Amino acid sequence: MSKTFQNQTAVISGGLGDIGKAISLAFAAEGAAIGLCDVHNLSEATGFLTRLKNEYGVPCYYEQVDVSEAGAVKAWLYNVKRELGIPSLIIVNAATATLANMLEITTDQWLREINVNLNGAFYMAQEAARQLVESQTGGRIVFIGSWAAHAVHLHMPAYSVSKAGIRMLSKTMALELAPHNILVNEVAPGYVQAGLSGKIWEQHPELSREAAERVPTGKFISTTAVADQVLYLCRPDNVHITGSTLLMDGGLSLRS
Ligand SMILES: NC(=O)c1ccc[n+]([C@@H]2O[C@H](COP(=O)([O-])OP(=O)(O)OC[C@H]3O[C@@H](n4cnc5c(N)ncnc54)[C@H](O)[C@@H]3O)[C@@H](O)[C@H]2O)c1
Repeated sequence: MSKTFQNQTAVISGGLGDIGKAISLAFAAEGAAIGLCDVHNLSEATGFLTRLKNEYGVPCYYEQVDVSEAGAVKAWLYNVKRELGIPSLIIVNAATATLANMLEITTDQWLREINVNLNGAFYMAQEAARQLVESQTGGRIVFIGSWAAHAVHLHMPAYSVSKAGIRMLSKTMALELAPHNILVNEVAPGYVQAGLSGKIWEQHPELSREAAERVPTGKFISTTAVADQVLYLCRPDNVHITGSTLLMDGGLSLRS
């Protein structure tokens, strides 16, 4: 039986992070070749690449890339195209978060976060879209946003602003790329019990307890649940959804 994304290539930035890995595994299970980048060196990626190949038998490619460097992102996407074929499933996932209020955050911290989370997202999505338009293959772009774009987060201002920027970037690209059969959407999770939140909660368990009490559905989100929504938006039978935000926050933003 043929798999949903057989003969397609997915690229995922921040692919060694918790959500990036879950998305990679989900695409690999459905037959996609996997092109990853992250800030870690190749030796740190080897174990995960081996797992993708052994469990799903899909070809993989990894490069150490800082997404805030436009030239490096462009080179990575070019190399993925050469090694695995043109990427048609573009998952813009890399991000970083600094905990510091507005009066505390330094200029360097602010710039770094905007450069990685927003500018890096733009470099990847723009270059991937250029490849797709040139080849006339069509495709799907999914930005991993956050419910933080829906509400003021006093302790992470740069993160919230970068995710709010991603929302309009996604909508702008959706309108311009629609005639090229490229659908562009955003998945915006609430509290995921892993990755960026997981790291913060490990250091501050009291914040984890407070967070759990705030979610109206009373549940944290798993990384596989995020991956499921990404794959849903990329499915070939989705031909209408574009420019949307799939907000999966258990009702958190309703309280704000
Ligand atoms: N964990 C959550 O609760 C949560 C909630 C909402 C949204 N998100 C979003 O999910 C996405 C994935 O985050 P995660 O929770 O898996 O965290 P994570 O830290 O596990 O993964 C992020 C990955 O991005 C990589 N990265 C950071 N800076 C980079 C750079 N300059 N260039 C390339 N790669 C870089 C990191 O090395 C890491 O592997 C992010 O966009 C994040 O904003 C997470």
